[in-house]
Amino acid sequence: MARIANGRVAVVTGADRGLGQALSAGLLEQGWRVFAGQYMPDWPELSALAATYPQTLTCVPLDVADMDTVQAAAQTVRAAAGQVDLLINNAGVGSPTSPRDLRQAQDYAEMHRLYDVNALGPIRMVEAFLPLMDSSPLKRLCFVSSEAGSVGRARRTSWYGYCMSKAALNMAVKIMFNHLHPEGYTFRVYHPGWVRSYMSGKKNLEATLEPEDAARYALAYFLQDEGVDEDVLALRDWEGKPWEW
Ligand SMILES: NC(=O)c1ccc[n+]([C@@H]2O[C@H](COP(=O)([O-])OP(=O)(O)OC[C@H]3O[C@@H](n4cnc5c(N)ncnc54)[C@H](OP(=O)(O)O)[C@@H]3O)[C@@H](O)[C@H]2O)c1
Repeated sequence: MARIANGRVAVVTGADRGLGQALSAGLLEQGWRVFAGQYMPDWPELSALAATYPQTLTCVPLDVADMDTVQAAAQTVRAAAGQVDLLINNAGVGSPTSPRDLRQAQDYAEMHRLYDVNALGPIRMVEAFLPLMDSSPLKRLCFVSSEAGSVGRARRTSWYGYCMSKAALNMAVKIMFNHLHPEGYTFRVYHPGWVRSYMSGKKNLEATLEPEDAARYALAYFLQDEGVDEDVLALRDWEGKPWEW
């Protein structure tokens, strides 16, 4: 499998911990210059990584639900690097109220929050960073979605906010693909597996994949530049299997 040469510039959202932190570490190991979106300045993992890679990792304050911070992050990256080759839209949220079914009161405020972060956040990011990516020879847009967004394989009887936010993200990416694929942009829409991350507020030790392993699988696909039909938008999982939309 051919791989993209290193030395290029990546932006990763939600990089404080979990999959985003591991994706950032994996890219740095491969020689990428990484701008890591920092949402939790008090969480130590990202700062520790920055100490290991002082030349190539820059932590950038970033709340994907706040266009002002997204635009400010794009300005920071423009001033420091001029160009972005790879944008990984990883930031995402769940909610402790998601498991409520319709016999219980729904938490509509939380549903709005999930939609704002999970579905609208990546749109804000692409809007702000597109001018920085137009000159890249790679132009790769990656989206960490979820099996939860697959309408064709939906089996849950609750989790409205999370599932709907990921289905909406998938539609957003399809519209972006229609617009930007003719301009040379390449796309990865991805289900990372069940990751031992912090979506529930504490590390989920019941899950099957450590973030480092999940990141290794993800980067193999995100950075793959041969053997992918770039003319077709696909939702794939960590084993390379396709998912119904
Ligand atoms: N874990 C799984 O099994 C699984 C499965 C399928 C898909 N995914 C997807 O994988 C992605 C990464 O999640 P993860 O599992 O690594 O969870 P995680 O450990 O919670 O990491 C996500 C990071 O994004 C941050 N974040 C929250 N809101 C943000 C915002 N508005 N702007 C920027 N960053 C924000 C989180 O901060 P807080 O902790 O403060 O919220 C956290 O640091 C998400 O898109 C998720 O939906 C995960």
